[in-house]
Amino acid sequence: MPTSHIDLRSDTVTLPTPTMRQAMATAEVGDDVYGEDPTINALEELAATTAGKDAALFVPSGAMGNTAAILTHCRRGDAIVVGSLAHIYIYEVGGAARLNGSPYLPVPNLPDGTLDPAALASCLGMGEDIHESHVGLLCVEDTQNMCGGRVLSVAQLRDYAALAARHGMPMHLDGARAFNAAAALGISLAELVAPATSVMFCLSKGLCAPVGSMLAGSQDFIAEARRVRKLLGGGMRQAGILAAAGIVALREMVDRLPEDHALARRLADHLGNIPGIAIDPTVVETNILFFSLADASRDVADFTAALAREGVLMSGFPDGRIRAVTHYGITADAIDRAAAAIARSLVA
Ligand SMILES: Cc1ncc(COP(=O)(O)O)c(C=O)c1O
Repeated sequence: MPTSHIDLRSDTVTLPTPTMRQAMATAEVGDDVYGEDPTINALEELAATTAGKDAALFVPSGAMGNTAAILTHCRRGDAIVVGSLAHIYIYEVGGAARLNGSPYLPVPNLPDGTLDPAALASCLGMGEDIHESHVGLLCVEDTQNMCGGRVLSVAQLRDYAALAARHGMPMHLDGARAFNAAAALGISLAELVAPATSVMFCLSKGLCAPVGSMLAGSQDFIAEARRVRKLLGGGMRQAGILAAAGIVALREMVDRLPEDHALARRLADHLGNIPGIAIDPTVVETNILFFSLADASRDVADFTAALAREGVLMSGFPDGRIRAVTHYGITADAIDRAAAAIARSLVA
């Protein structure tokens, strides 16, 4: 992709910072499958402390972190309760079903990212009847990507965890962008994820590391997840070279996330003033925003292609929505130019 493009498809397009590259070049490494990579060990300790959990595990991707959590928490064939718009449900290649024989019990996500309370209660209560699978896990997502980076509060997470516990199951948090949620709430990651039995958070999105996510939880949970990571092919040997960038991500890239949120709001405000764009700027809470075209007959792929010709990249979805994600490297000027390009693309 030409670097001249303003790339708002995702925060996964962020590049490692110069400090990360320097740290990677000089990282001390060893065989992590033997537990002998000092840089990975340091990252795992830092991540556990940052998340307020006993232990943490470095995994190559968010999807592997979530899948390892499901395989660790659940017996084979246990159903998992997930949001209908959850990444785990839609975008992880059916990992829970394919690898653990786990049926999904999808609960409708409401526009604010929360789960429909009646459907949630009904799904968590399943498993008594002989026709039903035992239910092994509640999975929640914060921020909720496909609802527009919406933030679930600590109180909300506490309620979900308590509900899950009442039905005898743990709660896993897909916190790919949990740092964004914590920043929006003005609290630490540890405070946010305290209610979750386990949490996955990504280093490779808004925090700019080239590779990697962390899975955190109790000592016993992480010890078993380490075995599952090996099963999934995630035992990575001298991956301290990658962990070095992760340490920089946790130390240096968290505090700047509110800048991304301000730019998303800036873009939303622009879009709110463009006739032909349908958006509610008031629901933009973090670095993700969705909008749609007031002219529903306009093909979204055609619009994003016109926008790309203007030098701006965004993601179109089959439901007619278009997503923009702000991140490190995007400036206020780029946002202003992106908004002008959107206005031009509407008539292209
Ligand atoms: C909410 C959410 N969870 C999990 C993931 C998976 O992360 P990865 O792409 O590192 O597998 C993503 C990726 O975009 C995500 O948005």
